[in-house]
Order: sequence, then C-alpha cells, then structure tokens
Amino acid sequence: MLGIKILPVLLFGAIAQSKYIVPGGRWHDTDGNLVSAHAGSITFDEGTGRFWWFGEYKIEGQEEGGGVSVYSSEDLATWESHGLALEPVKNHTYISPENVIQRPKVVYSEETSQYHMFWHADNSTYGLLLQGFATSDTPAGPYTFVNATAPMGNWSQDYGLFTDYKDGRSYALYSNGDSVEGRDVYITRYNKEVSELEEVVYRFNKFDLEAPTIVQTDNSYYALMSHKTGYRPNNVVAFRADSLEGPWSQPFMVAPLNTRTFNSQSGYTLKIEGSKKTTYLYIGDQWDSNSLWESRYIWLPIEIDDKKKTLELAWHDVYDLNVKTGEWKPIEGKTYYGKDAKTSGDAFKQEANFASHNTILTGIYGNDSTVTFEGIEGTGKPQWVSFYYQNTDDMGFGDQPGGTPDRIGGEWQLRRISSVVVNGNTSNVETLYQRDTHKSIILSTPLKLTLEKGKQNTITIGGLYNGFDYKGADLDRIVVYPPEE
Ligand SMILES: *[C@@H]1O[C@H](CO)[C@@H](O)[C@H](O)[C@H]1NC(C)=O
Ligand SMILES: *[C@@H]1O[C@H](CO)[C@@H](O)[C@H](O)[C@H]1NC(C)=O
Ligand SMILES: *[C@@H]1O[C@H](CO)[C@@H](O)[C@H](O)[C@H]1NC(C)=O
Ligand SMILES: *[C@@H]1O[C@H](CO)[C@@H](O)[C@H](O)[C@H]1NC(C)=O
Ligand SMILES: *[C@@H]1O[C@H](CO)[C@@H](O)[C@H](O)[C@H]1NC(C)=O
Ligand SMILES: *[C@@H]1O[C@H](CO)[C@@H](O)[C@H](O)[C@H]1NC(C)=O
Repeated sequence: MLGIKILPVLLFGAIAQSKYIVPGGRWHDTDGNLVSAHAGSITFDEGTGRFWWFGEYKIEGQEEGGGVSVYSSEDLATWESHGLALEPVKNHTYISPENVIQRPKVVYSEETSQYHMFWHADNSTYGLLLQGFATSDTPAGPYTFVNATAPMGNWSQDYGLFTDYKDGRSYALYSNGDSVEGRDVYITRYNKEVSELEEVVYRFNKFDLEAPTIVQTDNSYYALMSHKTGYRPNNVVAFRADSLEGPWSQPFMVAPLNTRTFNSQSGYTLKIEGSKKTTYLYIGDQWDSNSLWESRYIWLPIEIDDKKKTLELAWHDVYDLNVKTGEWKPIEGKTYYGKDAKTSGDAFKQEANFASHNTILTGIYGNDSTVTFEGIEGTGKPQWVSFYYQNTDDMGFGDQPGGTPDRIGGEWQLRRISSVVVNGNTSNVETLYQRDTHKSIILSTPLKLTLEKGKQNTITIGGLYNGFDYKGADLDRIVVYPPEE
C-alpha cells in the first residue's frame, strides 16, 4: 500500500521536468535516470511530431557495445526514454557487446518507408572500420541489423550523416582512420533509398580530423570537425562552402581560443526551422574518460553570419528554446563573486587579472580548506547554479608538441571534483565536476540545487577525491538561475 501511495509523488517529481537547456549539467529523463545517449544525433520525425535522440548507451562496466539508446521529446529539453533502439546480440560479428557501436544516426527513407540507422561498426581494437546499417518501421525501433560495410571499399572511423534540405539527398561523413594513407574526411552521397553509398563528392585531404557534422543554411554548408585527441577536448574547426563538392574554405575555429570548444567535441548539429526563426544547435559531447558513462552533453546555439562567412558557438549556462518559433533566449541569473566569499583553512583570495574583480579563490582542499558564498537568494525549488572555475591541472596539454598531456611523468587528471554543501547541511554533499582548463581560462559547470526561500542561503565549496587528490578548482563566481516553470 505504501508503495502505491509513493508512486504518484515520484512520477510528479519526474514529470515536472527541465524546460531549459543546460549544457554540461546532469540531464535526467522523465523516469529520473541519467540520459545515456552519447555521441548522439537527433532526427525530427514528421509522423510523430517528435524529436528522436539516438546515442551510445553506456553504463558502468559496459562503456562500449551497449547498443543504441533512444529518447523522444517535443521540446528538446524533456526527454522520455524508449530503451534500446538497437540491442547488442551475443556472439554477433558486428553488434555483440564486445563490438564498438558508435555515433549512430537515423534517417527516414521515403523510398523504403523505413527508418535507416547507420553507425561506426567496429571490433574492440578498431580494426574493422565499417559502417553498420539497420532498419525499422518506427523511429523508436527495435532496429534490425542489415549489414556492416566498408564505404566505397575504404575505412570508416567516426560516422556522420547529413541530409540536404534542398534536394533531400543524404550523405555519409566519415574519417578514414589513423593510418598514413588515411587521415581524411569524406562526404559520400547515398543512393535515393539511403541504403548504399554511390559517390564520393568531397575529400578533406590529410587534415586528420574526426567527429564530422554539416550545418546547412540557405547559402552555405559548414562542416564542423574536431581534432583527434581521443577523449580530451580540443578546438573544433569548421570549413565553409557554397556547394558540398567545394571549393571549401580554410578551416577556422568555432569557439573562443583555449576553451577547447567549451570542453566539448563535435558530433552533430540540428536545424530547427521555427515559425519566426531558424536556429541551429551544436550537439556536442563532454567526454569523461574516467567514467565514460557520466559524460555530459554540450548543446549550444550556433551563430552564423553568411555574409561574413562566419560561424560561432556562444556559451550560455542556461537557455530557453522554443522549438515552435525557433526562438531562444539566455536565462538571466544572479551573480555572487569570489571577492565577497569567506575562506577557511588554507583557502585564500589571490590576484588574478583574468578573474572578476581581479580575484580568484584558490587553495580549496578537502573539508577544511573551503570557501563559502553567503547571502544567496533562493526560491525553495530546485534551481540551476553555475560555478565558474579555473583548473590548471592540464599539464600543458594542448601546448605541448604532439599534444601529449604527460611531459613530466605525472598523470593527466581529467577533472577535479568539488563538494558543494547548501546551508551547512553536510549530509547532502553535491559533487561538482570541474574539467581541466588552460591557465587563465574560466569555464563553468552547473549543478541543480535546492536553496531555501529567502536571502539567507550559504553555499560552501570544498575538495573531494578525484582519483589523485582532494583539490577543488579555483573559483571566480557563482550564478544562481531562476527555477524552471
Ligand atoms: C557464444 O559463443 C560461445 C563460445 O563459442 C558459446 O559458448 C555460447 O553458447 C554462444 N552464445 C550464444 C548466445 O550463442
Ligand atoms: C579486429 O579486426 C582486425 C582486422 O580484422 C583484427 O586484426 C583484430 O585482431 C580484431 N580485433 C579483435 C579484438 O578481434
Ligand atoms: C547492405 O544492405 C543494403 C540493403 O539490403 C544493400 O543495398 C547493400 O548493397 C548492402 N551492402 C553490401 C556491401 O552488401
Ligand atoms: C582509402 O582512401 C585513401 C585516401 O583517402 C586511399 O589512399 C586508400 O587507397 C583508400 N583505401 C581503399 C581501400 O580504397
Ligand atoms: C569530507 O567529508 C565527507 C563527508 O561530508 C567525507 O565523506 C570525506 O571523506 C571527507 N573528506 C576528507 C578529505 O576528510
Ligand atoms: C539535510 O539533508 C538531508 C539529505 O538530503 C535531509 O534529509 C535533511 O532534511 C537535511 N537537513 C536539514 C536541516 O535541512
């Protein structure tokens, strides 16, 4: 009886879901589980009127070969899980749990009236380099495996799919591996059924890039790709052209220098054609190589100026997107600066001309060297709070020849973890992941916190164990956002 009484309460809590998009936050589905759809793509389906998000399903102990998960949404912010669209099959040559099933994409084929799924199909040592193909009568699946093939006889690593809205033709995008002969990215046209590749239309020769995706505007194509630094983020670049066949421009960076594309990798882009505005979203991944299943999603609006031939990603901690009108707006929060925080133990305020008011909070360590922000206004409801930090553990990564993170025999640490405690309640410790940054680069990570209604809240930040040490990252400021409606 008790269970039956509790259930509706839990469901209500789960349905009263996020309507904002919050890059880098922990995203939960309508069942309250972490969304697991990594290196994902989104297909809008006319039939159901919904967005369908396909991605790599990862859980602890099954980082690869978990199959393809699928979620659906009407607003791109509230996601309902539909389980696995492509389930791994034991002992299968291409889709067993020992295989690699990466970067899935789905397109509806008018010719076959079926949904066609493609992905990077491989074995665990990446020796096959194939493109998998599976079909289904419904967007959610289950999809039935058809084949795994070498595109035009070549190798295929990171897989992307692009459909030209002007003529409806689809293209496979793929890097052809790390061999000396490879290191290219291909744009190859499918047949009308979207079942087989028919012609290479362009080859980005020897740029050694991966994770390709194409954005199409009325006048341009922009091809976004990342460098190859494994799960470490780097500066994503874009090329522009009037036509897929080229000529393509020189590559250019799409985010502020040294932010490593706000700590993310490219993979997909989504065009939202609203009644008032067309908005393009960057659908990127913030990989967590220490615990891949906890990797986060970085989705950002893309700003394009076709006259100047430029494309940029702009960071917003929290934004509200209306998929019907295509309009979006950043949500405004209230900022609390490090210079006004209290320090304890060995934590202290240090001069930093790149920080707000020239001041950064540093020396945060364990439970005894902490900083406390006071007088924080809350609403009594869960609300997003962004923590702006600098984490200089990068060991010179990105500035070392060859990009090697380990010059002096130390180990590269992906992230620090801070403890976050509201109003001194240490029985409720939130974990704040702070990715490494270049020196003097300040980025943010959001956490959803429940503050008391009124202006008397405190937020205390200490350091938790990240596998190496108990250091918290240096803090610049925090921003408290209003709760979702
Ligand atoms: C998979 O292969 C192993 C080893 O050949 C065999 O023992 C097992 O029964 C197979 N499992 C299935 C589900 O076919
Ligand atoms: C993956 O495939 C390559 C090429 O066939 C092969 O050399 C390699 O041994 C395979 N790896 C595994 C783990 O089976
Ligand atoms: C894969 O299957 C599709 C659909 O049956 C077919 O058109 C294509 O030729 C197959 N590819 C290979 C290499 O067999
Ligand atoms: C794959 O493409 C590369 C160049 O991009 C070429 O050198 C190589 O021969 C191709 N491999 C096959 C099997 O066609
Ligand atoms: C800090 O306190 C938490 C409990 O609040 C405890 O789990 C953790 O081990 C403590 N860390 C250190 C370094 O003492
Ligand atoms: C402290 O947090 C715990 C765990 O969330 C909660 O059960 C408890 O009510 C909180 N205590 C106070 C005084 O708010």
